[in-house]
Amino acid sequence: MCGILGIITLKPRAIGRDLVAGGKRLSYRGYDSVGCAVMSDGKIDLRKDVGKVDEVSKKLNFSEMHGDRGVIQLRWATFGAPSKNNAQPHLDCDGDMVGAHNGNIVNTPQLREQFMREGHTVRSTNDGELCIHAVEKYYDEGYNMVDSIRKAYGDLRGDYAFIIFNNKEKKLYAVKKGSGLVVGIGKDEMYCSSDLPSLLPLTKKIIFLSDGEIVSLSPKEAKVFGVSDGKEIKKKIIEYRENAEHAKKGGYEHFMLKEINEQPVAAEDLIELLDESEYADKFLDVIKSSDKVFFVGCGSSYHACLLGSYYFGNIAKKVVIPVVAPQFISEYGHTVDDKTCVVLVSQSGETKDVINAMNYAKEKTDKILGVINVIGSTLMNSSKVYLPLAAGYEVSVPATKTFINQCVMFLYLAKKMGGKSCDDMKKLPPLIKDTIESTTDDCKRLAGYLKKWDDMYCLGYGSTYGIAREAALKIKEITYSHCEGMYSSEFKHGPLSAVRRGYPVMFISSLKDVDVIVSHMNEVICRGGRAISIAEKSEGMVRNASELIELPHSTDYFSPVLAAIPAQLIAYYLSVSRGINPDFPRNLSKTITVD
Ligand code: G6P
Repeated sequence: MCGILGIITLKPRAIGRDLVAGGKRLSYRGYDSVGCAVMSDGKIDLRKDVGKVDEVSKKLNFSEMHGDRGVIQLRWATFGAPSKNNAQPHLDCDGDMVGAHNGNIVNTPQLREQFMREGHTVRSTNDGELCIHAVEKYYDEGYNMVDSIRKAYGDLRGDYAFIIFNNKEKKLYAVKKGSGLVVGIGKDEMYCSSDLPSLLPLTKKIIFLSDGEIVSLSPKEAKVFGVSDGKEIKKKIIEYRENAEHAKKGGYEHFMLKEINEQPVAAEDLIELLDESEYADKFLDVIKSSDKVFFVGCGSSYHACLLGSYYFGNIAKKVVIPVVAPQFISEYGHTVDDKTCVVLVSQSGETKDVINAMNYAKEKTDKILGVINVIGSTLMNSSKVYLPLAAGYEVSVPATKTFINQCVMFLYLAKKMGGKSCDDMKKLPPLIKDTIESTTDDCKRLAGYLKKWDDMYCLGYGSTYGIAREAALKIKEITYSHCEGMYSSEFKHGPLSAVRRGYPVMFISSLKDVDVIVSHMNEVICRGGRAISIAEKSEGMVRNASELIELPHSTDYFSPVLAAIPAQLIAYYLSVSRGINPDFPRNLSKTITVD
């Protein structure tokens, strides 16, 4: 998804270098083109093209870009194909103003037509350019920048944030509406960016903007104004204590492998945090006082919701409805009332579908709970109570440690709510470590077998259903093969026809469900298919599976969490064997900030 980062500094210097470094920190979001604009000797120097930050910045020499203010943008195409012309930033008609956005302007066709009719020079089919013309229009009529942005805000429909500056005032302006925008306070420098982690290496002093706020940055001052009345708003500066170590690969070939290996420590940190914090109780008090509970998420987070609802039903005896975020509004929206609790699960805390669900639910109930990994995210700031996943920064697009911690979090909460001791949770991190160590070789070997197949299934039952869905998503995301995750008993109702000699079907089973899974495996095996099992060793599995990826012995509630690990490793090694970079799969983005 697009990312923007702007810098304004007292003395002109080679800010291109810092913009490139900041751009790289936003690259986890996924993108197809990059551009940089710097105010240099009274002129705007704009360079942009299709490609990755390293490539484009080297080709166009971003690092030599010298000046006192500038912006870098990474574009993930929505409006307008990925091309040099559509790459951001964009200039206004006469090249006096430049800016870049993040998000979607949904009335793009109408605005393009209007601006062209009004005589603007519209150079691209990208919606970001319209933000610049929208501000330019009012600025040329004599409004100051803040008022021009306020008026443009009324014309631009959709959810977005943009950074803009002109060649007249030594200022950088930005506005937030629905997309993330964070301000960083430096010494004689100010920054703003789509996300917090990209700013932390530059400064630890942060201001979070809310929707409908405009920031005017000069090298020594950050002033925030409300779009509605133009009045100045006093904002709190928050000091962060995070280090940037997490943004390095630490000797691993990919962030994904590093993050898989960080899972034992991440889980341990989370369990410790939950043991010590009073917030788990506050969170559960809200759930306990509710008639209806929804777990809402997208992608991997939704899969964690599937397992979470299993845990809550079976351990806490509380019925929870897991639902993908967009479906929540259309299918269950009318049932939400003040006794409904909506638990929104999102590692980024910015996924647009989740934020939409939250905004909808907020109108009807104040029981809004958040489970997030990114501190300072929109979801965190808007929840009545939130719980942090404490997984540390996750760079790789496929979620690994954040997913595991979501599952760990739900298990912990379900046990607590069900009046069970959480003491045994401490056994889980070493088991995660054992699983990584004991299954890696088998996963590598299996990836060799799967390499020749472009389509496969991954099946689970009961507690492992969500994990089967997650395993299939991991394979789809980073190997570009089709892989469908489903309830194993559903397989005979249609998909069984895909089975032929050697056709791979993965089965994920807890000990409790071995018998039923064994039947389902045999339906595949007797038709020539290959039933690959991820499970603890049991007589049924050893005698029936074509291949067994053996999980360490644990409990029925731990084993689904452990089973996710070989699934991650299989996807990882399959991806690498196909020459794909699993950290940044094509077309995907880690933070989806559009509908
Ligand atoms: C994107 C990512 C997925 C992720 C999903 C939800 O689609 O590519 O890996 O699971 O967003 O992200 P969230 O930040 O809300 O957990």
